[in-house]
Amino acid sequence: MDSGIDRLKEWIAESNNIVFFGGAGVSTESGIPDFRSVDGLYNQKWKYPPETILSASFFARNPEEYYRFHREKLVIENVQPNRAHKRLAELEAEGKLRAVITQNIDGLHQAAGSKNVLELHGSILRAYCSRCRKPYPAERMNHGEGVPRCDCGGVIRPDIVLYEEPLDQDIMSSALHYIRHADVLIVGGTSLNVYPAAGLIRYYRGTKLALVNLSETPYDGFADLVIHEKIGEVFSQV
Ligand code: APR
Repeated sequence: MDSGIDRLKEWIAESNNIVFFGGAGVSTESGIPDFRSVDGLYNQKWKYPPETILSASFFARNPEEYYRFHREKLVIENVQPNRAHKRLAELEAEGKLRAVITQNIDGLHQAAGSKNVLELHGSILRAYCSRCRKPYPAERMNHGEGVPRCDCGGVIRPDIVLYEEPLDQDIMSSALHYIRHADVLIVGGTSLNVYPAAGLIRYYRGTKLALVNLSETPYDGFADLVIHEKIGEVFSQV
């Protein structure tokens, strides 16, 4: 077994205060493309750059085009939690992992059984009216046709953080609390390119920050342990 994975296994065995911070790379092994890898969402050809489509101003101006992208690219059919999601849920059930903090909007951590999941960027499994905020089932938004509308006439939108929008401050402060007090912080499947989410890991004060990511990140030098391997593979060994 890789010595880095050995060390991570030891850290996990010895701790009951583990926090996980993850991104799209946690779900690629479930068949959901990430954003910035070569075959990621942001490197596919669209009429507008995906970061533009996934913005509040674009959603307000072009809800039709937004929903074309949303249904074609954000909603992936029949995805299942993978070994990483499942191991994290097990570690929580064993009383070793305190929280999963995720940038993902796919709900796969909860599907794997994780209970304490902080969704920094929201979830496409929830929807609400952008005018009166009435909640709606996500079904019609994710699988319907055209622009879904509320009884009040407002446009129904996904409960996700679009570019230009603030993150939920209660979720952010809760994430900060878990990271600040964590014994072991495992960061996985994220390029750590997007703020303020990525900046959260700077609040970690321990000496056991493990970074499990296929490619290099700007925080590799900040981590105590770096493993450039597939996260499902790594978590199947810890
Ligand atoms: N195992 C480990 N790492 C992986 C795997 C895998 N199986 N698959 C992909 N990766 C790594 C990639 O190398 C990449 O560095 O996961 C990282 C994913 O990075 P991004 O695609 O940038 O996704 P993420 O970091 O979650 O993006 C953050 O950007 O557009 C916003 O809101 C969006 O939440 C997203 C945020």
